[in-house]
Amino acid sequence: MIVQIPNLLNVEQLREARARLLAAPWVDGRVTAGHQGAGVKRNRQIAEGSAVAVELGDRVLAALERHPLFISAALPARVYPPMFNRYEGGEDFGNHVDNALRLIPGTAQRLRTDLSATLFLAEPQDYAGGELLVEDTYGAHSIKLPAGHLVLYPSTSLHRVEPVTSGSRLACFLWVQSMVRDEGQRTLLFDLDTSIQRLAQTGADEGARLQLTGCYHNLLRMWAQP
Ligand code: NI
Repeated sequence: MIVQIPNLLNVEQLREARARLLAAPWVDGRVTAGHQGAGVKRNRQIAEGSAVAVELGDRVLAALERHPLFISAALPARVYPPMFNRYEGGEDFGNHVDNALRLIPGTAQRLRTDLSATLFLAEPQDYAGGELLVEDTYGAHSIKLPAGHLVLYPSTSLHRVEPVTSGSRLACFLWVQSMVRDEGQRTLLFDLDTSIQRLAQTGADEGARLQLTGCYHNLLRMWAQP
């Protein structure tokens, strides 16, 4: 399941984030790549734990916590501190699968990557190329969203970032460990929740909606590992 979370950051937040990122020091993106990713990763990143990464990252986390669509789709148990990357001058990130486990910096805690997310920080017309391609059983999905929008996709999927042939692709990326580990169960819960919300908006039979809401919570109780 690939889900778009629109308008996570507003115009003012985006402007400030871009200005701060462009003024910050950048390091080789391979510092955080796994063995498999390092050979195909060609980009730059803001150093993990640097003041700008922590402050902007906290803003992204706060926006995610307030976004009902993100909560419904991800059912997050924990979120890896957001990181920031930049592609330009032909840089790309070839096909790879994200590492299954990541040590959360500054802690002894590991995060299982169930969902990967990219928050686009540059407007699509400001760079050429740079599409995120996520493969599933139906083939490759090409994703290039307006600034401030985030895409959530299963970390199990093979994906890549196409070469950026002009301009600069600025983005934030992060991983989520979900309370519901199984992708099929998580998708079912998301569909059910979406449907219940729609029934509430259209003033459907209250008793039936309540019964479905009960099913949602009882499935969540069965499957969730908080
Ligand atoms: Ni990746």
